[in-house]
Amino acid sequence: MFTPQPIGFVRSPYTGTKQIPKGLGTKHEAEGVLEIQPEFEQGLADIEGFSHIFVIWVFDRSQGVELVGTPPFDNRPHGVFATRSPRRPNPIGLTVVELLRREGRMLHVRGVDMLDGTPILDIKPYMSSVPPEKLKRGWLAEAEARGKKEV
Ligand SMILES: C[S@@+](CC[C@H](N)C(=O)[O-])C[C@H]1O[C@@H](n2cnc3c(N)ncnc32)[C@H](O)[C@@H]1O
Repeated sequence: MFTPQPIGFVRSPYTGTKQIPKGLGTKHEAEGVLEIQPEFEQGLADIEGFSHIFVIWVFDRSQGVELVGTPPFDNRPHGVFATRSPRRPNPIGLTVVELLRREGRMLHVRGVDMLDGTPILDIKPYMSSVPPEKLKRGWLAEAEARGKKEV
């Protein structure tokens, strides 16, 4: 395999996991900065043209692995690979953020759901190619439908 090396760190308003909004239909609107290490700045060339980017990062403060678990906003268990749980065999997070502007090696973004200081492994431009009518949202859609009925 390879030894991952952070290309940068997330500057986020969140210092504790309880501050991060959770639950069905949550929209992440918090702004943050992706601070890229000076030795990787060249790799940001031409990123300004993209409205959204994938951020691949490390759950550096998660503990243990849970192969089957019940998300906080459902009452049924699901396999870890069918969820976005931090307690995964390889603790890697993936977040799509809106790129607001670039200032040198600082990417100002909206939509962070990571803790302050989270290591970033990679950044890629987001290009959605799945037509909405082909998108299935599995147990999440079912949980949302159940939630609406219970309200
Ligand atoms: C449900 S995960 C989803 C993360 C990402 N969007 C994904 O899908 O991989 C988001 C949660 O991870 C936790 N979290 C955020 N940053 C973390 C970090 N650096 N280490 C451990 N847990 C973190 C917080 O509890 C946050 O609410």
